Amino acid sequence: MSDNKRPETMERITTESAAQKFIDEQIEALRAQIKDKKVLLALSGGVDSSVVAALLIKAIGKNLVCVHVNHGLLRKGEPEQVIEVFRNQMKANLVYVDATDRFLDKLAGISDPETKRKTIGAEFIRVFEEEARKLENIEFLAQGTIYPDILESDVGVKAHHNVGGLPEDLKFELVEPLKFLFKDEVRVVGKTLGLPDGMVYRQPFPGPGLGVRCLGAITRDRLNSLRESDAILREEFAKNGLAGKVWQYFTIVPDFKSTGIKDGKRTFAYPVIIRAVNTRDAMTATVENVPFELLEHITQRITSEVENVNRVLFDLTPKPSATIEWE
Ligand code: XMP
Repeated sequence: MSDNKRPETMERITTESAAQKFIDEQIEALRAQIKDKKVLLALSGGVDSSVVAALLIKAIGKNLVCVHVNHGLLRKGEPEQVIEVFRNQMKANLVYVDATDRFLDKLAGISDPETKRKTIGAEFIRVFEEEARKLENIEFLAQGTIYPDILESDVGVKAHHNVGGLPEDLKFELVEPLKFLFKDEVRVVGKTLGLPDGMVYRQPFPGPGLGVRCLGAITRDRLNSLRESDAILREEFAKNGLAGKVWQYFTIVPDFKSTGIKDGKRTFAYPVIIRAVNTRDAMTATVENVPFELLEHITQRITSEVENVNRVLFDLTPKPSATIEWE
C-alpha cells in the first residue's frame, strides 16, 4: 500500500525547526481533510495519542473530542495529568470517563494473562463505543499510529489502540497524522508543540497497564500496593538521574505472600519486585546496574510507606530468558 510508505524524500525530524515545519504542514493538511467536521480520539496520555491530540487541538480546536478512559490500571497521577494538560492548559474538548469499577469488576477472578489482556481490550472498546454513541456529527477517528506500527503489523492498526474493533455502524474515516514518524521524531514534535517533558519522554507503558504487573487475578489491595510502589520507584529514579537513562523501570506485585515483621509482630504480606531494563527494540534486554545504596533506600521507602508490603526483590534476569513484563 503506497499511502502507508514513508516518502523517501522525507528527512528525519531531529530539530525543533524541522518539527515546526512538519507541524505547519500537518495543520494545513488536517484542516483540508477535516474541514468543519468533528474528530474523535481515544487519548490514553501516552506519547503518541498525546502528540496527536496536541496537533489536532492546534488544527481544529474544539472540533476534536478527546475521550480519556481511566481503566483503573493507570499509574499514579496519570489521569490527573491528562486532565491538567489537555482540559486546563490546552482547553481541549475532553471527555473523562472513570471506568475503574467497571474494569475491575470484569477482571475479578481472571488470572490468565492473555484473558486479562483480552478482557481489558474488549471492555475498552465497549466504553469507547458508548461514549462515541453519545456524541453527534463525528465523522473522523484520530489514531496515534506511528511508522513502526505500520512496519510491524499487517493491518497497520496499533493493537492496544485497537478502536479498529468498533462495530460496523460506527465506522469513521481515519486521521493518522503521525503515521510516517519514528518514535524519536514524535517526541521532538511533542516537545515543539509544548507538551510537558513528563509526557514526551515517558517510558513505554503497556496498553493493559498495571493489569499485567498485578500478577494473577487483580485485587484492589494489590493494585494499590503496585501503584504506590511504582510511584516511589519513579520518584527515586527521577531524583537520582536514572529516569532519562533507563529504558523501562517499574514494580510488580505477585499473588503470593511471605512472612515479615513489623513493630515486633509477625506480618503476612506481599513482596514488591523491581524491574529496570535497557533495550533498543524490546526483543532482548539487559538489566540496569542500579546502585545498591539506591536499591536499599527504595526498599526502605516501599516497606515503610506502602500498605500490605513487607519485602522488596530486584529482578536480575535479562531477556531472554525472561520477558520484560512478568505476564
Ligand atoms: P515483553 O514482556 O514481551 O515486552 O518482553 C516487550 C515490550 O512490550 C511491552 N508490552 C506490551 N505493550 N500491550 C502493550 O501495549 C501489551 O499487552 C504488552 N505486553 C508487553 C512491554 O512493556 C515491553 O516494553
